[in-house]
Amino acid sequence: MQKIERNQIIKWGILGTGKIAEQFAEQLVKIKAAKLIGVASRQFENAQKFCQKFEGVKAHNSYESLCQDIEIDVVYVSTPTHMHSYHCHLVLDANKALLCEKPFTCSYDEALAVIRKAQQKQLFCMEAMWMRFNPCIQMAKQAIDENKIGNIRTLHAELGYQKDPNLLDTRLKGRGASLAFGCYTVSLVIYFFGKPDTVSSHIIPNSQGGDETGALLLNYPDKVASVFYSEGATLSNKVSIYAQEGSLHIDDSFINAPSLDIVSLKDIQSRSITERLQIRLNRIFNKINSIINHGNSVNKYNNIGFRSEAEEVIKCLYLGLLESKTMPLNETLSTHHILDRILIY
Ligand SMILES: NC(=O)c1ccc[n+]([C@@H]2O[C@H](COP(=O)([O-])OP(=O)(O)OC[C@H]3O[C@@H](n4cnc5c(N)ncnc54)[C@H](OP(=O)(O)O)[C@@H]3O)[C@@H](O)[C@H]2O)c1
Repeated sequence: MQKIERNQIIKWGILGTGKIAEQFAEQLVKIKAAKLIGVASRQFENAQKFCQKFEGVKAHNSYESLCQDIEIDVVYVSTPTHMHSYHCHLVLDANKALLCEKPFTCSYDEALAVIRKAQQKQLFCMEAMWMRFNPCIQMAKQAIDENKIGNIRTLHAELGYQKDPNLLDTRLKGRGASLAFGCYTVSLVIYFFGKPDTVSSHIIPNSQGGDETGALLLNYPDKVASVFYSEGATLSNKVSIYAQEGSLHIDDSFINAPSLDIVSLKDIQSRSITERLQIRLNRIFNKINSIINHGNSVNKYNNIGFRSEAEEVIKCLYLGLLESKTMPLNETLSTHHILDRILIY
């Protein structure tokens, strides 16, 4: 990988032309410090079609061809989960920095092999866990770290969308909703509280032998987190945290959080804290919108996490970091470790 100078334009490539790749690209092209250089598909027409939406982007007829493009600094892998491991190795073997969609791989072992290769080759690597870069999630993390609501006792998070059982992904090596949705809930708990001491779980299997619905308890000496995930039912998709001096609530859908409510019992004017946060959020979004969206955003919160995660990659590359402090690789591994064990508990 070529040396990155601070403030140089970071040149991106995208592997895969699915709907998530398109949503990511729409946000990426709004970043002044980023340039989308190439998009690769297994079928050239798909890459060409994708490129029609983004001016000046080169269509590649294979993933290998994109990875060999010497202009590209970093590749975003947005292929189906069962292909992540293979495509991550392809990117790293070509000496490019790597941002890979969630869940990082299908298992802990696959994740470890990719991360080891990135570390051996001194290449930046990050799981594209966009949820962590949402401003509401960031502010919730700050409130927790600053003990704004006192000692936390419980967290409850739910993420689930009902899926047509005929459309279940048969390629996930015996896994199911834990990879699609469970990864978000576990990653969130680890982000807020670190790795749990123990985990207990109950799952309802799907017709492929994977998990259709699951409930996990992530246990800490002084608190407990319960998370539900499902492909069999649409859940509340919210997060609530209760503590000795207040509570914190992240609205539906917490992975693309539209709002955060902090109720502090320490402050009798807790509502005003909520309002202040809301005002701060509005200020941030208005500023961002006026710079890059020309103030036309329909939902000002929508998909902000994609843009912020791409900005994080750029910041890390400028600083010469090999991983992000917000989405560190050991937390990707911890998430996979827990997800792996769900099916055997
Ligand atoms: N951040 C989020 O909110 C979010 C939401 C949903 C999903 N995701 C993650 O994003 C990734 C992509 O999701 P998606 O829904 O966009 O996936 P998808 O539509 O199933 O596939 C994305 C692209 O991957 C390429 N591909 C490569 N190998 C393939 C194979 N063996 N079978 C099918 N397609 C293959 C295809 O592009 P070409 O034909 O052009 O090669 C396809 O268009 C997944 O890891 C998923 O977990 C993230």
